[in-house]
Amino acid sequence: MAKIKRVQCREILDSRANPTLETTITLDNQITATASVPSGASIGSNEALELRDNDPKRYLGKGVLKAVYNVENNIGPKIIGLDPTQQEKIDQIMIDLDGTTNKSNLGANSILSCSIAVLKAAAQNQQRKIFEYVLQLAQKFQLREKKLTIPTPILNLINGGKHGTGNLEFQEFHVIPLGIKGIDKQIQAAVEIYKNVEKVLIENGAVHSVGDEGGFAPNLFSNLDALEVVARAINLAGYTLNKDVYLSLDVAADYFYKNGRYTIRDRSAPMNTNEFIEYYRQLREQYSLLLLEDPLEEEDWRGWSHLAVRFGNHTKLVGDDLLCTNLARVKKAIKEKCCQAILVKPNQVGTISETLKVIKIAQEAGWQIIISHRSGETNDSFISDFAVGVGADFTKFGAPARGERVAKYNRLVKINEIITEKKSND
Ligand code: PGA
Ligand code: ZN
Repeated sequence: MAKIKRVQCREILDSRANPTLETTITLDNQITATASVPSGASIGSNEALELRDNDPKRYLGKGVLKAVYNVENNIGPKIIGLDPTQQEKIDQIMIDLDGTTNKSNLGANSILSCSIAVLKAAAQNQQRKIFEYVLQLAQKFQLREKKLTIPTPILNLINGGKHGTGNLEFQEFHVIPLGIKGIDKQIQAAVEIYKNVEKVLIENGAVHSVGDEGGFAPNLFSNLDALEVVARAINLAGYTLNKDVYLSLDVAADYFYKNGRYTIRDRSAPMNTNEFIEYYRQLREQYSLLLLEDPLEEEDWRGWSHLAVRFGNHTKLVGDDLLCTNLARVKKAIKEKCCQAILVKPNQVGTISETLKVIKIAQEAGWQIIISHRSGETNDSFISDFAVGVGADFTKFGAPARGERVAKYNRLVKINEIITEKKSND
């Protein structure tokens, strides 16, 4: 049985030029595995803490040397000598060592980089592909048994809110190629639509730089205009809306919520919850949205359940900032019937074990599982293997552009080739 021999960590850059962590675990049989962690911009207030140095002399305070130190000097000595297949035990050791409810002592970034590196080292040691090993781990955590399949991608083609240029309030405008079979064809469709979005924006004279997740960050009059641009692009690319491809939104409503009111450029006056729900009803009538993420602010539990009941199963509400991959919040949302889907981000909670426990509870409630990247990413494609291994329904990895996003889509295609036995490399 191989044991963890060395834990090393370094500061690297993410896709937004912010420092993040890269941890390498070496086993006593010389197997090494490396994992890096992503970073969000629109962060729910109930997320575990991402530890930064706050030293204004380095990277405008965003350095992560304290977190690097924690990995090498605090976590490392406690997990060296352990068997990397003991994921839950190792995660618990880190949780106990931290000793806080939000990982504010060691930092969720330090802990997660170790948690993922441990998983990867164990997979390699067993000569399994990462997604196969995640599947095995998911069975240990009693997740719903599923055949290995590739989740349907949710692709973010227009970036607004905190990821855009300050022009649109809604954060993400998605296409979901649910009616198209096969991940390769789904990605092809999304790319063709993406290119047509660019074309439409050029025709409309709307500036089309890209935002944090590789989607366009255009200069449009309203959020509705952005939906219309995507709908047109679907048509121009030769696909049928609500048959081949569906629309969805990550509204990330906290961004434009203040004192009980939602302010968006589509309406001349700020809206209260009921008025905003009525706005969504009209929007859905027009575009038949498949998913609606964070439509209301993160503490409006009553508003969420009201909207979820109203929309039923046709447009599923997705909890991201509402839930923060946090078990207690997920349980509350199940009880109060606030959503029908969860956005799962391992770095919102900080360990793989806790993430798996959240997925299990959400699956048992009949929710759809969406495994998500963060807006600040690295080229690590672990999240693709993770999504396949846990049997997720959807993935959310941004636009089909920019290296850090494309790495994840390319990995999904490769996994598909492996599981359909077209190719056997990893
Ligand atoms: P974030 O955005 O990674 O900046 O939090 C992603 C999301 O809100 O889904
Ligand atoms: Zn979100």
